[in-house]
Amino acid sequence: NWPATLTMPLQRYCSYGAVTLGAYIALHSNSALDAGSVAGFMLLGGRVAGPLVSLASVMEDVQKAQASIEHVAWVLNRPNEKQALTHGLRPRFEGAIEFDEVTFKYEGAKTPALDKMSFKIPAGTMLGLVGRSGSGKSTVTRLLQGINRDYSGAIKIDGTDMREINLRHLRKSFGMVLQDNFLFRGSVRDNIISGRPGLSFEDAVSAARLAGAEEFIERLPNGYDTFIQEGSPNLSGGQKQRLAIARALVSNPKVLILDEATSALDPESEALVNANIQRIGKGRTMVIVSHRLSSLLDCDLIMVLDRGRTIDIGTHHELVERCAIYRHLWFQQNRHLDPEGFENDAKNSPALTQGR
Ligand SMILES: Nc1ncnc2c1ncn2[C@@H]1O[C@H](COP(=O)(O)OP(=O)(O)O)[C@@H](O)[C@H]1O
Ligand SMILES: [Mg+2]
Repeated sequence: NWPATLTMPLQRYCSYGAVTLGAYIALHSNSALDAGSVAGFMLLGGRVAGPLVSLASVMEDVQKAQASIEHVAWVLNRPNEKQALTHGLRPRFEGAIEFDEVTFKYEGAKTPALDKMSFKIPAGTMLGLVGRSGSGKSTVTRLLQGINRDYSGAIKIDGTDMREINLRHLRKSFGMVLQDNFLFRGSVRDNIISGRPGLSFEDAVSAARLAGAEEFIERLPNGYDTFIQEGSPNLSGGQKQRLAIARALVSNPKVLILDEATSALDPESEALVNANIQRIGKGRTMVIVSHRLSSLLDCDLIMVLDRGRTIDIGTHHELVERCAIYRHLWFQQNRHLDPEGFENDAKNSPALTQGR
């Protein structure tokens, strides 16, 4: 804005100054300057000043364009995934996952989102991830899908370094359900199959059954052919989530990731989804992120994260015994189970004692 700000008053003062000075000279001196010349001078002066001022605004435009080009270039110049999508191994996954000293920092962040994280789970494990918000739970799931790949350390699926695995194959073999899932315009069946070639109507039906969605789909006016509008205003949150789970299950993925998938649901819908989790988890590895610990009780293992580190990993009972962060979270959410031990914890966090 500097050029424009500077030239604007200059232009004003130039023209008013010229009028004042010209008029003064024409009235008071006997020189050749008369009123006609002053008017002529003003006209011509405007012609000269105009382009100069617009030059200033051109400079502004150039700078705006530069900034926009930089933004676009930032996106376009990112390394693309083509290499990783077309090259690499295509193993048959079993679902064993290992993180070995994985450190990852988001671009522009000061502290790493994951800090030397190490853990190992065998195939078929149902793993729960808990931790404060910002502790790195979603980051673990993103790295697992190969969305962010510039980490140090190693992530291994069934012992194979993830960097060597074909990304498209990896993502096809993994299922993912987020807190808010996008259902597009189309029938229920199309939303479940969602463009994957080679899947039939039967696949959609059995995925819906496994996800606990069959019950409400059959009550819809046209069953599986019911048309869903974009944003699906005619479905409840719980119904949407169950459809999203069906969509993730339809290709029978060996690894299924649920990142706060039930967090936005009402208790009844949440219970409905959780009731199916055990069945859904049969024969596959599950990674379940939830801030409600009660929905992780059935997990084989629960991992506690804090500031990008693995604090502890174990079963619910083990963690309640030995992990302070977990115990704190658990009794925070389940005060009715409060043993006297919590009294001591509560002293350290006065906010929790209110209303007791
Ligand atoms: N796209 C991003 N860019 C920069 N920092 C991010 C990004 N996503 C997450 N982070 C940071 O990484 C850390 C871990 O985030 P996340 O894995 O989303 O936590 P959680 O899912 O446990 O709440 C946080 O400190 C967060 O601020
Ligand atoms: Mg998260």
